[in-house]
Amino acid sequence: MLSLMSQSDYLSDEVFGLEQERLFGRLWIFAALKQLLARPDSFATRTIGGVPLLLQNCGGVIRAFENQCLHRQMPLQWEDYGERPLVCRYHGWAYDDQGAPRHIPGRDEIYRYDEAEAGSLRLRQFAVECVGNLVFVNLDENPMPISGQFSAGLLERLAAVSGAFDNEVIHSRIAAKYNWKLNFENVLDGNHVRYLHPRTFMPFMQPGNGKEAALPSIDPGEIDKCRLQDLSYESRAVFKVAKRPWHDNVERFGTEDVYYNFFLYPNVNFISVAGNIFLIQQFNPLAPAKTEIGFSLMTARKRRRIPASAALLWAHLCGEKAVLDEDIIALEALQAGLHPGGQAARHGVYEKQLMMNHAIYRRMLGAEGT
Ligand code: FES
Ligand SMILES: [Fe+2]
Repeated sequence: MLSLMSQSDYLSDEVFGLEQERLFGRLWIFAALKQLLARPDSFATRTIGGVPLLLQNCGGVIRAFENQCLHRQMPLQWEDYGERPLVCRYHGWAYDDQGAPRHIPGRDEIYRYDEAEAGSLRLRQFAVECVGNLVFVNLDENPMPISGQFSAGLLERLAAVSGAFDNEVIHSRIAAKYNWKLNFENVLDGNHVRYLHPRTFMPFMQPGNGKEAALPSIDPGEIDKCRLQDLSYESRAVFKVAKRPWHDNVERFGTEDVYYNFFLYPNVNFISVAGNIFLIQQFNPLAPAKTEIGFSLMTARKRRRIPASAALLWAHLCGEKAVLDEDIIALEALQAGLHPGGQAARHGVYEKQLMMNHAIYRRMLGAEGT
């Protein structure tokens, strides 16, 4: 079946601009981990849809503001995660919980704003939804309910699984030279694992774990009728889980030796190996052929200290990175060969999820709403 996507969709600046506005400007996008925003003045920064964002614990409530000082656009917070009051480093403006300046040093002497101008100063604020420990932001002035994007059953599962996260997190990000959609499509495509990861990932997969057995059927018109909620879902694969001593030191989520995958449209792949360890991978668009891949990795909540837990997290991150590097090499090669006159992809039945992604993508980019 001929793909709805053209090669230009992965190359064009114009398409990239439309995605930023109509996907990333309208959808709920994963933005931060709530357990890292629990302390007063703790914060996280992100860029979504080209907008620099700040999530700040304001008196116990997590708020999302544009991360730009109203004076001269200096970012109010600089690090990915941290703990610091909402005060600009450039000229010392301090903000209140609603994003209005509460103190402007020298306001009457050197700024001399009149009352009307001073009263109008307020940071742009965006909608926030917390699902367990996952914090989502929506840039839209009239955001759709998050239940319009993720089904009630999935939201419940996400809240339960992420509720098991430990507070010690390793967070990192790297850049890759391909379009962000290629990476989300790649994680939806379980068929590539045996070819690209024969030694790193494939040995842990149990044969006949259902990925190849349960081939979807496609009824006529079904792809056209799919809904936004159909793009985000949970899958499980039976996995060879080696028992490690540290497993006894955490409150594992569930009891099954499975590899959980939560695909969260448009750009998150959330994994758990047997409920002991969790990884959130996010594919953030930087340019048509440039993606930033973010990682947050943590164990299940510790019930007692794990000696050298930082080294444990680092070792797991390196293992995940080794698998990802195999994808990056392949996807960068794929991207490098794309050209506007090239042929569209040919999907098989097993790629139903990709076809549904593309149908919704076309709808969202081409028309109002979904
Ligand atoms: S830019 Fe923030 S106080 Fe001047
Ligand atoms: Fe892969």
